[in-house]
Amino acid sequence: MQRFLQSLSNFAYQRNYQSDMGTVGEGGWCEGPDHAALYSLYRPSPPEALIARIVTYVGDGVRVNDEVETVALDVGCGPGQSTLPLADHFDRVIGIDVSKSQIEAANRIAYKRSNVSFKLVDAGQFPVDDESCDLVLAVQACHWFDLNGFYRETKRALKTNGTVAIAGYTLPKIEFMDRPELSELLMEPYLKVYSETANSWRPERKLVDNEYADFHFPFAHSVYVRGAEALKNYSCDTVTTLDGVRGYLKSWSGFRTHFRERGGSAAGEARLDQMVEEYDWIRCPKMARNCGATRQELVSASLVLRVPYFFRMGRKQDQF
Ligand SMILES: C[S@@+](CC[C@H](N)C(=O)[O-])C[C@H]1O[C@@H](n2cnc3c(N)ncnc32)[C@H](O)[C@@H]1O
Repeated sequence: MQRFLQSLSNFAYQRNYQSDMGTVGEGGWCEGPDHAALYSLYRPSPPEALIARIVTYVGDGVRVNDEVETVALDVGCGPGQSTLPLADHFDRVIGIDVSKSQIEAANRIAYKRSNVSFKLVDAGQFPVDDESCDLVLAVQACHWFDLNGFYRETKRALKTNGTVAIAGYTLPKIEFMDRPELSELLMEPYLKVYSETANSWRPERKLVDNEYADFHFPFAHSVYVRGAEALKNYSCDTVTTLDGVRGYLKSWSGFRTHFRERGGSAAGEARLDQMVEEYDWIRCPKMARNCGATRQELVSASLVLRVPYFFRMGRKQDQF
């Protein structure tokens, strides 16, 4: 419960939550002031447990002493969700992103921490000196990068034994807050919409669905956390209702693409009406029988959206 409340406090994840899956750069899904604003408001932040695990790993690799400045670089920082949590742990934190709107949004929150700055730069050109960084982090971002350039720069920028961590998050799980044992019933209509729109997602999405299992990751002492462990220990949780789930699906870029080509937003709304009907008329009476609640109580029940973060971490070694 403690972990749950903590993650709620740093997570403004509401009904219009913007799912990942867009492409990036000028004209892409992640571009433009509206998307940057949605990201700022509705994207999850890496949970404290993930930041703590990364920071511990960094400390085990690079001996820290007060004389030497510690530096973390967050690549593909978006509006800063993955950058700000590093501020307590490093002397200097730099977020970089190729999107002007994201960097503008990030700069609006930069005042919160004096040791954090943001720069408009591509993942193939880190704005730091050779061997100056203790951590290079990329959260829900490196599937968009030219990996050769990103790894070349990571190698250049990291101190020996410095850490590279790449993380991402998969589809949220939906659970009844009070009756988690009934939660399986909630997933089916929601996953059906995802699979129906599957062909409208960009190909890079598959790397995320696969939790970066196929990612080339040429670093020593590699750690890989995914699946059940990610869900149990490294998820960002928030409370919503069935109506919030509906809004969340509507914000998927794949959902929007799918219905843009098939009748526009009216068709998308109709599909979501249908999904809600499945919950209202088929699922809820069954659940009501199971848990003794009224149908109305179930429709307005508090739900938890759990966003599991998977991650890989490794160290730069001299022979890299
Ligand atoms: C899904 S967002 C992730 C934002 C943030 N790291 C988070 O935890 O939510 C992906 C970000 O990667 C950025 N990005 C994509 N390709 C990039 C590149 N080649 N160089 C730098 N940033 C890039 C996008 O502009 C976008 O802001």
